Amino acid sequence: MNATRKTLLLLLALIALPLMASDDNPQKDRTTQEFMRRKLGYADAILQGLTLEKFDLVFTNAIKLRNMNMTNAFVTLGNPEYRQKIENFQKSVEALASHAQDGKLDLATTSYSQVIHSCVDCHKTFRHEQFLQHNAPAGEKGK
Ligand code: HEC
Repeated sequence: MNATRKTLLLLLALIALPLMASDDNPQKDRTTQEFMRRKLGYADAILQGLTLEKFDLVFTNAIKLRNMNMTNAFVTLGNPEYRQKIENFQKSVEALASHAQDGKLDLATTSYSQVIHSCVDCHKTFRHEQFLQHNAPAGEKGK
């Protein structure tokens, strides 16, 4: 459990830091942005639930994550790879919800790390692409 928790914290730090670093992006018509920020809140609440063994917190926030996914431009454009990534993401969230419901802390923790993996996996491919799309007219914007 200790090692797992450390890995989780490390993973979170790896995710959170680059995202925080992008906070100073100028506000544009980025509908996905607000949406994704909420995901971060849910993921945070799930971590809280796991570390404090509050399974209801894990469950309700996993369901919230599960239910928000289909508004992104990549979905509306019907990008098949994006759909695939969403499906992987949703599967891991569903596993998480189900383990939380069963009160299985270790299994839920493992599922949580898979959820975070899916966040990062999708971002590796699409976040950058979308970032370039959004910022293309303004030219290069590093940070
Ligand atoms: C299926 C693909 C996909 C998955 C899964 C995904 N994201 Fe995202 N995420 C994106 C895309 C695309 C963007 C870029 C959105 C934009 O800039 O408009 C993004 C951007 C973000 C941002 C930055 C928003 C901002 O302020 O610029 C955060 C935070 C975020 N995601 C959190 C998460 C978390 C947490 C998870 C997992 C619980 C997750 N995302 C899962 C595709 C995904």
